[in-house]
Amino acid sequence: MKKRILVVSSANLDFVQRMRRVPRAGETVTESATYSYVPGGKGANSAVTFARLGDDCVFCTRLGADGNGNRLLSVYEKEGIDTRFILRDKKVPTGLASILVEEDGANRIIVYPGANNAITVPDVEDALTCYPDAVYLQFEIPDKATLAAARFAHEKNIPVFVDAGPARVDFPLSELGRMEIFSPNETEAKVYTGIDPNGADNCLRAAIKLSTMVDAKYIVIKIGSRGAFIYDGKYYHIVPAISVPAVDTTAAGDTFTAALTHFYMQGMDIERATYLANCAAAIGVSREGAYTSIPTLKEVLAFAEEHPQR
Ligand code: ATP
Ligand code: RIB
Repeated sequence: MKKRILVVSSANLDFVQRMRRVPRAGETVTESATYSYVPGGKGANSAVTFARLGDDCVFCTRLGADGNGNRLLSVYEKEGIDTRFILRDKKVPTGLASILVEEDGANRIIVYPGANNAITVPDVEDALTCYPDAVYLQFEIPDKATLAAARFAHEKNIPVFVDAGPARVDFPLSELGRMEIFSPNETEAKVYTGIDPNGADNCLRAAIKLSTMVDAKYIVIKIGSRGAFIYDGKYYHIVPAISVPAVDTTAAGDTFTAALTHFYMQGMDIERATYLANCAAAIGVSREGAYTSIPTLKEVLAFAEEHPQR
């Protein structure tokens, strides 16, 4: 059944340069093979994932009243995203991310937040009037807006899902209240706990420490090409990634957590939902770009059939 997912998060235009290797300090690299401007931003990548997987996705964010904002808005409309809670800000430009991608697909990202930083509590309060089945949050907009979204959702008994990126050492995690799923990547897990989840033991140590910091039914740590680590407060389980040639990992995490939320909201158990999220993210890493790499439901299900769950 189609679910209505409210994403309260960021939108950027991504300026992406692909190169053999990134320059060291003081060095100039002139061998950049390609560059492109593609829609991105953690929130927008997740909103596109929900829409392509068949959800009724409502996106609450801010764009500048500029050409980049016009371009992004028309992309969201073409994707079938409900844009009525996207405000245009006349004072600040649309968010911009500069992304350097190396030959092995690894990326480095610098974000100019722009209009994302202008999202207010009343923006979020308005958006909650859409009667969502779930609220989906990340940490790329002002904390007070993220926390207000969680609070309003709790007041209405709406389940909350949190993709805990980008890493924010000072984010007041305990104020998020009850969550269905809290999902950091390796960097974020390390920033919040001080433990590098570099093996199963350390994943468990990090997850146990996270469970003292957040109130979540499931903690799901994204562990890159190793897959995902699930912890429910008692048991843990690793769901391995599906091996693919990594072209560009940009937005792999956004695609993963949105897909996990989608399949979980469809009533699947956490392991099956995580496996299908691994499939969606694997397709994403095998393609270039953020928004451009996100698969449709049909693609995810076909990929899952070719790579059965072990
Ligand atoms: P990004 O910040 O690049 O969007 P992330 O660091 O938040 O991503 P990762 O842990 O790197 O998140 O990746 C998210 C998910 O993508 C993983 O849990 C896994 O399912 C999938 N994934 C990542 N890298 C690979 C890979 N090399 N091969 C297959 N799947 C991958
Ligand atoms: O997670 C990837 C995203 O992070 C990029 O699209 C970029 O815009 C930054 O928000």
